[in-house]
Amino acid sequence: MIADPFSVPLDRLRTRTSAKWRHYEPDVLPLWVAEMDVDLADPIREALEAAVRDGDLGYPGSTPYVPAFVDFARRAWGWEVDDARVTPVSSVIEGYVDALVELTDAGGEVIINPPVYPPFFLYLRQAGRAIREAPLGKDLRLDLESIERAMAEATAGGRRAAYLLCNPHNPGGTVHTREELEALAALSQRYGVRVVSDEIHAPIVYPDATFVPYLEVDPTGMALHAASKAWNLAAIPAALLVGGPESEGFESHRAGKHHGPTHLGTIAQTAAYQHGGEWLEAMLAGLDRNRFLVRDLVAEHAPQVRYTVPEGTYLTWLDFGQLLGDEPANVLIDHGRVALNNGPYFGTGGAGHARLNIATSPAILEEAARRIATGIARAQDAGLSQVSV
Ligand SMILES: Cc1ncc(COP(=O)(O)O)c(C=O)c1O
Repeated sequence: MIADPFSVPLDRLRTRTSAKWRHYEPDVLPLWVAEMDVDLADPIREALEAAVRDGDLGYPGSTPYVPAFVDFARRAWGWEVDDARVTPVSSVIEGYVDALVELTDAGGEVIINPPVYPPFFLYLRQAGRAIREAPLGKDLRLDLESIERAMAEATAGGRRAAYLLCNPHNPGGTVHTREELEALAALSQRYGVRVVSDEIHAPIVYPDATFVPYLEVDPTGMALHAASKAWNLAAIPAALLVGGPESEGFESHRAGKHHGPTHLGTIAQTAAYQHGGEWLEAMLAGLDRNRFLVRDLVAEHAPQVRYTVPEGTYLTWLDFGQLLGDEPANVLIDHGRVALNNGPYFGTGGAGHARLNIATSPAILEEAARRIATGIARAQDAGLSQVSV
């Protein structure tokens, strides 16, 4: 039995030097960027310690995390992945940008579903692609009518366009159902818009939902996987691009256009997929408790705020309505000393919202709820309600 991974005390977390713990002043309680407040799973720590001890810090000589992932995909999701269609890439972001650049022309459009992970906008624009939004519905689920409209407009005049799916969806944790994905695949087929599915959060799905790999419903798609979110390994990047049996543009990655994963990343992800199952289970049990704890804390401390219990991910979505203006996270830092992510960065549907990272201890979540309540009360005293900041 593995102890609750979310029991690292606050004073030890505050000694961390990663973005989560260093971006804001030391009196701010950080629940923003997608890092978890956990210690490493023992098998991963041991593999990394052995590599450091032995000076095994060169380039990756092989990529055992590919077969390790293929085995994990079979055990976790009953998904048979052909290892000949898996290629190591340096990170999920690099992987989806490269794939989408292959599938579109310069200035071509990529359809995304805001509110969504902000780098979906940023790096595609840097790569010379235009973004077309097909926002999620109010229920944070795919809006197939808006997707169809976006596909029709993006491909008007015979232009090439592509689609970047986030499954499970960050923020809010929607896990797309098989029916939704089949409907998306049918639209992809009808309009010739190829889908790339970012599935980095796939191992983090709660018991009331089922993760369906997009390639199970669409052989022409591509998907990105990594152990980096579920086992908290952002410091040592590595990821996998999986091509469906009929995907276009996949082969170009074999040519090794870009730098590959870090050697330590491949070591860590191999250990995670092979031996990290028990830790993952304990971690998911902690998050499962936290997602309902947050529901109760919001009801108690900030009943004006709407919280959607996530089906997957630890990146929850809070709707402040008009309470704190368009950018509630800014107000909460100033008046509550608690850091969430600002909704507007997630695109259309983000105003008046904030993303709350629940991958921490219950004690920190309780303190965060008190600070959110204080932030709301002080902002209202200062006359900030109903104001866009
Ligand atoms: C949906 C999504 N994709 C990609 C990433 C980052 O992946 P990587 O660090 O491998 O580029 C994140 C990180 O939080 C994410 O939430």
